[in-house]
Order: sequence, then C-alpha cells, then structure tokens
Amino acid sequence: MEKMKLKMLYSDMRSDLDLIEIELEKAVNSSSDLLNEASLHLLLAGGKRLRPVFVLLAAKFGHYQIERMLRVAVPLELIHMASLVHDDVIDDSEMRRGQLTVKAQWNNRVAMYTGDFIFARALEYITEIQKPEAHRILSYTMVEICVGEILQIEDKFKLDQRLQDYFRRIKRKTALLISSSCQLGALVSDADPKTIIHLKRFGYYVGMSFQIIDDILDFTSSDKELGKPAGSDLIQGNITLPILFLKDSPEFRPALEHALSGNMTEIERLELIKRIRESDAIAKSKAISDRYLKKALKEIDELPASPAKKSLRDIALYMGKRKF
Ligand code: IPE
Ligand code: IPE
Ligand code: MG
Ligand code: MG
Repeated sequence: MEKMKLKMLYSDMRSDLDLIEIELEKAVNSSSDLLNEASLHLLLAGGKRLRPVFVLLAAKFGHYQIERMLRVAVPLELIHMASLVHDDVIDDSEMRRGQLTVKAQWNNRVAMYTGDFIFARALEYITEIQKPEAHRILSYTMVEICVGEILQIEDKFKLDQRLQDYFRRIKRKTALLISSSCQLGALVSDADPKTIIHLKRFGYYVGMSFQIIDDILDFTSSDKELGKPAGSDLIQGNITLPILFLKDSPEFRPALEHALSGNMTEIERLELIKRIRESDAIAKSKAISDRYLKKALKEIDELPASPAKKSLRDIALYMGKRKF
C-alpha cells in the first residue's frame, strides 16, 4: 500500500529512475564476489531511493540531462547505502529493509569493508563531473555524516541530553545528505545560484523533518512495516526526540532507565512501546517535524515556476505521512 503510493509519486521519473537502478547495480560490481554479494544484498532489498529522486527533481530547475545527472544521483544513493551498512554496525541492527543486515548475514568486518567499498565507488562516479565545487560539497557531506554517526555513538544511552544535541546529530547524519542531493542536482544542471540555495535549504528542512518521522515511526509503526523490530532505537540506546520529551516524567523515567540497562524482557518492550505510543511525546515530536516541513514548503514557494515544484511538494508531504 505504502509502496504503491511512492510508485505513483515517482511515476513521472520512472524511466530515469530505472536507469539509475541499472547504474547502481553496475556500481556495486567489483572483482570480489563477497563485496558484490554483500552490496547487492542491500541494494536489491529496495529502499525509497529518496536521494536520487531529489537529485533529479532539483536538476529540473536547470538544464536537465539524464546522462549527467546519473553521475550525481548514483553517488548520492551509494553514500546513503554505505552509511546504512556502517550504521547497522554502530546500532548493532539485525534487520534492514526486511532483510538481514550485512553485519548480521556476514559480520562486522565484512560490513566495514562493504561500506568503505561503496563509499569509494561513490567518489569514482562523481569525479566524472568536472566541477570542483561538487566534489567539495560531497566530501564535506561525507565528513559530516561520519561526525554525526560518531556523535550518535557518544550520545548513546545518555538519557540526560539536550534537544540541541539531538538536532545537531540528525542534521549531520541525515539532513545534510538530503540537502546536498538537492544542492548538487541543481548545481550540476547549472540552475541559477538563488535556486540552488532554496533547493539546498529545502533539502535541509525536509531532511530534519524526515529523520524526526523516522524516529517516531520506530515507536508507532509495526515490525513488518519497518522491516525491523519496533522500538529498536531505545533498545540500542539511541535517544530520539520522543524519549527526550518523556525522560523527565516520573511515570516514564524508571522504565526508560530499565530499557537502557539492556535487561528488558520482550513483554516489557512491547508494553513500553505501547505506553510511549499513547503518550503526548508522539504528537509533540510530530509538531516539530511539521514545523520543519512547513519551512521546506516555504522554500518551494521561492522557486521559479516548474512542474517539478509540485512533485517536490507531493514528496515532501508524503514523507510526513509515511509508514516506513
Ligand atoms: C534510513 O533512510 C535512514 C535515515 C536517514 C532515516 P531511508 O528511510 O531513506 O532508507 P531507505 O533507503 O528507504 O531504506
Ligand atoms: C540514520 O539513522 C542512519 C544514517 C543516516 C547513516 P538511524 O539509525 O535512525 O537509521 P535506521 O533507523 O537505522 O534506518
Ligand atoms: Mg540505525
Ligand atoms: Mg531509525
């Protein structure tokens, strides 16, 4: 059902997205069977391909040439993939996209190199774009994702952190990559400088909203829809926005500490998720996500007339309603 909606939203771009799929499969091919299998395992498990979609839509504000945009859209999805492979090591996750993670199907070492390999391939693709600015943006984004993931490790299991710490983390680990996808799509298609800035900001706001929704869904969605057990974040020690709203409540504090101690039973996990889901922390988090979404929509209003505006708006709105 959810996947159907996404298909409809992408329908105008279908043939170009198919080309991206073909190119992604080529990109993860190497002389090592193990690297190929591990990378293909994640690639073929699907995913929303959100970053390539934003590259293509942003490029529609300039001189759109699909051959050139492939060189931008492919590395952005690859960087996303590589960061997921590494993220599952950091978060010790067993499942992703309804499949075993690379670290679970193989092991942490294989996941480490698979991630590095996919990162390296991303660089190979972008070098065909002869714009040093594009390379600078991509490198900066990769550095910031690493910083974001390290912050995630450092902030793990710490209930007493500030909202500011959370926003700082998600900006780096998620919002910047989406922002850069929009910025690079526009830059490489030679859109005008003001347009590039609005698209970059749009991506940032959508990215913030998107990660907050991801963190809400971890509590409100089902294991099946998520493709991994609900409540994983808390069990893994990741303190996300809904938890920050509950951590000082006497009704929740002991249960949260117990969850973070790692000694929670399956029944207790389900019970706690249910209580969190029924608390006002979900609506409060949603309100913040919506605030970012509104800011994103405002940036769209500033863009020059183009059919891509409607697609950007529809996709941004869908992101706020999604179930996975
Ligand atoms: C998952 O991103 C990690 C986050 C940044 C929240 P997506 O939700 O875009 O993952 P896929 O690609 O669709 O699996
Ligand atoms: C996003 O964080 C991961 C990256 C941006 C690398 P999460 O830890 O929330 O992502 P999921 O929930 O595992 O997909
Ligand atoms: Mg994770
Ligand atoms: Mg998550």
